[in-house]
Amino acid sequence: MEVYEGKAKRIIPLDETKVIMEFKDDATAFNGKKKASLMGKGTLNARISALLFRVLEENGVKTHFIGVAGDNRLIVERLKMYPLEVVVRNVVAGSLKRRLPLEEGTELPEPVVELYYKDDGLGDPMINRHHAKVLGISEDEIEEIERTALRVNSILRDYFKRRGIILVDFKLEFGRNGKGEIVLGDEISPDTCRFWDAETKRSLDKDVFRFDKGDLIEAYGELYGRLLETP
Ligand code: TMP
Repeated sequence: MEVYEGKAKRIIPLDETKVIMEFKDDATAFNGKKKASLMGKGTLNARISALLFRVLEENGVKTHFIGVAGDNRLIVERLKMYPLEVVVRNVVAGSLKRRLPLEEGTELPEPVVELYYKDDGLGDPMINRHHAKVLGISEDEIEEIERTALRVNSILRDYFKRRGIILVDFKLEFGRNGKGEIVLGDEISPDTCRFWDAETKRSLDKDVFRFDKGDLIEAYGELYGRLLETP
């Protein structure tokens, strides 16, 4: 069993059913074109992901989260991942501005779900259900994945709203566990979501790094602090 190394995480095999997910301090953006190492990012993302997976589990969403194993490590269920990035959007930002004639910050009438094929070589192209079928993912699987993504959205949107934060958009990844169940995997962190302060619309996510808007560790630290508050 070998270690899998991604851009921001390392997957270390533990046993037949579990792996360790280690969050690195490395930050990349624009398909790896922009890079940095930011001390403390791995630990913050591990803690924020653990907290959000717990919130989702408490609300009945099946996730791969099992427990925490040190500052920047989580123990998670071993999954066979779908090669998909599932994006859910509540507010116009990022690449949606290049697809629809809407201004940044416009609230969408209902959440928008998008599918991307996870492939660095192709630049993670957006795909639809027909493309997914060619990749061997059935309509029933896509149906369940999208339904779960929307449930995650409504749970997390409310959770953040109570803390004065807008959940603008986010990316999820899913896999199948040993029992054949579709389970939420990967991470849910400010690397993979957009969070805006509800008052000032200030970014508390990786846009701080992508667009040089300030200190990423400060922003992620503020977000984590606000999540620990019980409103
Ligand atoms: P986008 O607006 O750039 O398409 O991004 C939508 C959301 O998905 C945003 O919250 C950031 C997240 N995302 C990732 O987690 N990984 C990626 O590679 C990309 C492009 C976006």
